[in-house]
Amino acid sequence: MHPWIAQRTDCVDSSGIRKVFDLAASMTDPINLSIGQPDFDVPEPIQAAAIDAIRAGHNTYSTTQGIAPLLEKLQARIDAELGHADRRVMITSGTSGALVLTMLTMVDPGDEVIIFDPYFVMYEALAGMVGGKCVLVDTYPDFRIDPERVAAAITPRTKMILLNSPGNPTGVVATEEEVRALAELAEQHNIALVSDEIYREFCYDGPLVSPARFNPQTIVIDGFSKTYGVTGWRLGFAHGPAEVIEKMTMLQQYTFVCAPHPLQWAAITAMDVDMSDHVATFRRRRDMLLSALADDFEVVQPGGAFYVFPRVAWGTGTEFVHEAIKNNLLVIPGNIFSRSDTHFRISYAADDATIERGIEVLHKLAKMR
Ligand SMILES: Cc1ncc(COP(=O)(O)O)c(C=O)c1O
Repeated sequence: MHPWIAQRTDCVDSSGIRKVFDLAASMTDPINLSIGQPDFDVPEPIQAAAIDAIRAGHNTYSTTQGIAPLLEKLQARIDAELGHADRRVMITSGTSGALVLTMLTMVDPGDEVIIFDPYFVMYEALAGMVGGKCVLVDTYPDFRIDPERVAAAITPRTKMILLNSPGNPTGVVATEEEVRALAELAEQHNIALVSDEIYREFCYDGPLVSPARFNPQTIVIDGFSKTYGVTGWRLGFAHGPAEVIEKMTMLQQYTFVCAPHPLQWAAITAMDVDMSDHVATFRRRRDMLLSALADDFEVVQPGGAFYVFPRVAWGTGTEFVHEAIKNNLLVIPGNIFSRSDTHFRISYAADDATIERGIEVLHKLAKMR
């Protein structure tokens, strides 16, 4: 290794995903069900608002915490849902930016962060970068949270529990009982509960129940990326106890500085755009995929996001995905998100024809067992 490279870079292991994408590079016109972002266009009024903001000269830095009209609009929405006296919001550089600030603000070297396996890939890397250690709580085979398992994972060094619902890669939405139990555990043990709700608008069987409803100290991180198809805009937000948000803002000032300024103006417009047609399309695709997979794969019904995480029909996740790639289908092996290599992630952020072609290949692969 080059002598200048810091040890903390070791906590990022992207070799697995690199191997998949190296293999994928040889594919011509793949059936791509690996994409982690919506396939719809940014609604026209949101595009127009971004262009208008640039033309109106909103191209300088904004205030660190974000522009006042967007903060006010978000704060009103959050207060209407949660009604916590001490809850403040800030605008971040993507949900990823909020995650970085959360870790920097709350996790000291040696602190433990409880995450649920399978998990969003960034969590383990980010905790590691600040010297923290992820403690994994297994949720196989149904991807449900067992509060007893969480309680058993708590030690005197536990600083944070990080929940992601609807979850990437499973699409599973935590139930009210699960989030209530988690909220209470965190409160009893004085542990920070962080709730990554980036997929909250993509809930198909009822609205998301946030753990913040049961634990007013919960730090919620959320964003515009997925809801409005603007992953490249790098716009997120975080809300939680005022003192924590203040420290996160201070750290933002010395790192990201602010979220992209003109796009914050467009986010105000976005908040009034009805995305329910897109959500309905995703729900329909979920149902289509689930009924097509039911006979050949063991699959937990996901209540949200745009992912399905079936168990492979044979072999390991890696072996199965290699065979899928040989058959021109790109999906992601489960070990990218997990200590287990038994499942694979399908994204249905793709048009119907692509999903149908993918289903055909999956049927063929299942019969190879
Ligand atoms: C669970 C989860 N959290 C956070 C992010 C990051 O989103 P953003 O584009 O807002 O940084 C993603 C993106 O895939 C995600 O799946």
